[in-house]
Amino acid sequence: MPGDPVCRKDQKMTSVASIFDSMAYGPAPEGHAEALAWIAGHQGRFGHWINGAFTAPGAVFETRNPATGKVLAEVSQGAGGDISAAVAAARAAQVKWARMGGQRRARVLYALARLVQKHARLFAVLETLDNGKPIREARDIDVPLVARHFYYHAGLAQLLDREQPGFQPVGVCGAVIPWNFPLLMLAWKVAPALAAGNTVVLKPAEYTPLTALFFAEISREAGLPKGVLNIVTGDGDTGAALVAHSGVDKIAFTGSTSVGRKIRQATAGSGKALTLELGGKSPYIVFDDADIDSAVEGLVDAIWFNGGQVCCAGSRLLVQEGIADRFHDKLKRRMDGLRMGDPLDKCIDVGAIVDPVQLAAIKDLVAGSDGEIYHAACAVPEGCFYPPTLISGLNSASHLMQEEIFGPVLVSMTFRTPGEAVELANNTRYGLAASIWTENVNLALDMAPKVKAGVVWVNATNLFDAAAGFGGLRESGFGREGGWEGLMAYLKPAGKPKRLASPKATPAPAEALVEGMDRTAKLYIGGKQARPDGGYSQAIWSPKGKLLGHVGLGSRKDIRNAVEAAHAAKGWGRATGHNKAQILYYIGENLSSRAAEFAARIKDQTGRDGADEVEAAINRLFTYAAWADKYDGQVKQVPMRAVALAMNEPVGVIGAFCPEEMPLLGLISVMAPAIAMGNTCVLVPSQTAPLSATDFYQVLDTSDLPPGVVNIVTGAPQDLVKPLAGHLDVDAVWSFSAAPVSGLIETEAAGNIKRTWVNHGLARDWAGAAGEGRTFLAQATEIKTIWVPYGE
Ligand code: NAI
Repeated sequence: MPGDPVCRKDQKMTSVASIFDSMAYGPAPEGHAEALAWIAGHQGRFGHWINGAFTAPGAVFETRNPATGKVLAEVSQGAGGDISAAVAAARAAQVKWARMGGQRRARVLYALARLVQKHARLFAVLETLDNGKPIREARDIDVPLVARHFYYHAGLAQLLDREQPGFQPVGVCGAVIPWNFPLLMLAWKVAPALAAGNTVVLKPAEYTPLTALFFAEISREAGLPKGVLNIVTGDGDTGAALVAHSGVDKIAFTGSTSVGRKIRQATAGSGKALTLELGGKSPYIVFDDADIDSAVEGLVDAIWFNGGQVCCAGSRLLVQEGIADRFHDKLKRRMDGLRMGDPLDKCIDVGAIVDPVQLAAIKDLVAGSDGEIYHAACAVPEGCFYPPTLISGLNSASHLMQEEIFGPVLVSMTFRTPGEAVELANNTRYGLAASIWTENVNLALDMAPKVKAGVVWVNATNLFDAAAGFGGLRESGFGREGGWEGLMAYLKPAGKPKRLASPKATPAPAEALVEGMDRTAKLYIGGKQARPDGGYSQAIWSPKGKLLGHVGLGSRKDIRNAVEAAHAAKGWGRATGHNKAQILYYIGENLSSRAAEFAARIKDQTGRDGADEVEAAINRLFTYAAWADKYDGQVKQVPMRAVALAMNEPVGVIGAFCPEEMPLLGLISVMAPAIAMGNTCVLVPSQTAPLSATDFYQVLDTSDLPPGVVNIVTGAPQDLVKPLAGHLDVDAVWSFSAAPVSGLIETEAAGNIKRTWVNHGLARDWAGAAGEGRTFLAQATEIKTIWVPYGE
C-alpha cells in the first residue's frame, strides 16, 4: 500500500517494532482528484457568480497551490462594472428574500448546512490546495465550523421574526474576506446576512477564491434564489470598488488593520453600516501553577494552527518568570517534533504559507528582530514554507512584541505578578483575544475581565462556535460574529426615520432684554466647573429676546482635559451594578426635587412647556437605574465541554454629541445608558439650549457621582468633533446632533478604529420607545466571550 509506513521506499528499518521505536510516520496524502476534476470541469477558468450563474471569465489572474507553486485555476479580476452588476442583482433579490420570512429562509440555510456536510471532503481539499493549510485543519476544523454556522443561523432565521420584532434587514451587504479561513469567513458573513433577510455581494481574497466559487455553485441546490448571494473575485481594487458602491448598505470586513482603517475612511459619512474584524497580537499568559504540558500543547494550537496566519493567534507568550526556562525548553522540544510538509498529508502539523509575498513579509520581520531566534529543528520543505519559530528575550517595546507577524512565529517574554501580566497583555494597540493558563480558577476569572480582548480562553485556545460571539476591541476592530449579537449587525430598526432639521440658535434680538446679573455657565470637567481654555463664550437668548446667560465655548484643550478626567474615573467600570443603580436613582430623585426649575429653563430656551420633558428625563434615569444591574450576560450553549460566558463590559470612554432638540431628555438619554453600563463620558450638549446641561451638573454634584464619570463641554459640535472623535484615548463616539458631523466623526474614528454610533442626520423620537432601551445598552457595552472548558 502506498500509504503504509512499513512499505515506504525511503524507510531504512521496516519492521513494525522498529517503527514503534522511531515513531516515524509515512506519508498519508488525501486524494485531490475530485477537486482538480471540479476545476477542470470549469476549464480551469472562472467568471464571477452573479445572479445565480457564472459570468464568462474576463481579465483573469492565477490562483496557485502555495505548497507546490503550481497554478490551480484562473479567476476573474472584478472591475467596477462587475461590482455594479452584482449589487444590482443583490438589490433586485433583496425585498423578495426578506419577505419570504425567517422560517422559509431557515430552510434554505439548513439546506446549505447539509450541502456543506455532503461536500465536506471536496471543500476541505479545495481549501487546502488553495490556501496551503494542513488538510487535518481544513477537514476537522474549518469545514465542520462552516456547517455549524449555517445550522445555527438556520435556527436564528427561524426564531428571528418572533424574537426580534421591530427590526428589518439592512439591505445589500458587501463582504470582503481574507485568505486565512476562506470558506469559514464566507460562512461568518453570509450566514447571518442571509438569515436576517439581506442579500450579499462577497469578494474573496485574491489568494483563495476557489471554495467561495464552489459554495456559490452548490447554493443553487439549496434553493437559494438568484441574486441573493453574489461572488465577485479580484484583488484589493475590487474590494475597494465594492466598499465604495453606493448601492451597498453595509460592509462586513475581515482582514488587516491597515485595510480596515481605509474602509472606515472610505465609508465615512455614507450611512453604510460597518463591522471590522482586524488584526491582533493576542497574549498567551502562562502562570507558574499551570499544567505546563497542556499549556505547551495549547501553544501549538495557538500559534502553529494554520501556520500562525490567524487573526487571534496566541502570538505573544507571557510566561511567569519562575517557570520560563522550563517552559521554553519543553516548548522547543515540542517544536522540534512538529511535522511540516505537503498540506494534503494527513500527518502534517504545519503547512505552507499562503503566498511568497506573505513568506517574504514574515522573513523580513524576523530578520529585523533583536531577540534570540529559535527555529524548530524539523525538516522544512522547499518552497513557500517557514519553520515554527520562537523569539525570546524581548521586551515590551520590542518591535515584534507589538507587530502582527501573521506567520508561525511566537514571541515571548516573562512576567512576575498577575498585575504585571495584565499590564503586559494590554500593552498593545490590539484587543482581539487572550489565553490564560492557570490551575487556579479564581485567578483566571479575576484576570479574564482585566485583559482587553473580545475573546478570552481559560486553559484553552482558538475555540470557536457559531453561538459564541467573536470579535475585537481597539485596533482589532468592532462588531461581533456569531450569536444573536452577531445577527443584530445585519438588522436595523424598522421604519423610515425623518431627517433632522438643522439647528437654529435664537439670534440676538434687536432689543435685548437683560435682567439681573450676567451669569456664564462653565464647563464641567472632572467634577469641577472649568473655564473654557479659549476664554470664549456664547450668549443664549430666549425666543422672546431675553438674555438667559452665557456658556463657555469649549476647544481642543477642554476636550483633552475632559478625556483625561474621564480616564481617571474609569474605576467606575468596576462599581457593582447595584451601586451604579443607586447613583442613577439618586440623580433622578435630585432632579425631581428641582423639576419646576428645570421645566422653566426648558421653556425659557425653547419656548416649549418643559414639564413633560423633565418628567420623561426622571423616568429615563429610573429606567437605566433599573437596567444597571439587569443587563445580564449569557452562558452560550457551545457544542463541547465548555461554557462560553458572554459578559457585558463597558466600552470605556464614550464621547457623545447630544440631541439638539430636547436639551435635558436628550442629554440624559445618552448619559444614563453610558454610565449605567460602567462607561465614563464626555458630553457635548445641545448647542442652542445648553443651559439645561449646565444646570444639570449641579444635580450630578449632589448625587454622589464620582468626579470625571460625566464631563460636559459646551460649544459648537463642528469645532469639537475633530478633537473628540480623533482622540486616541476615546473608545467610542456617538452623535445625535443636528449638526452634520457624522461623516467627520467616522473619518476621525479611523485613527484608533473606535466604535461609532451616529445619526447621519436622521431624527430619533427621544420621548418614545426609540429613545431608550436595549439598542443603547448594546452600544454602551462590549461583549467579551470567556471560554472555560471543564472536565479532567
Ligand atoms: P488584506 O487586509 O489586504 O486583505 C483582506 C481582504 O481585503 C482581501 O480580500 C483583499 O483583496 C481586500 N482588500 C485589500 N485592500 C482593500 C481595500 N483598499 N478596500 C477593500 N478591500 C481591500 O490582507 P492581506 O494583504 O491579504 O494580508 C496582509 C496582512 O494583513 C497580513 O500579513 C496580516 O498581518 C493581515 N491579515 C489579517 C487577517 C485577519 O484575519 N485579521 C487576515 C488576512 C490578513
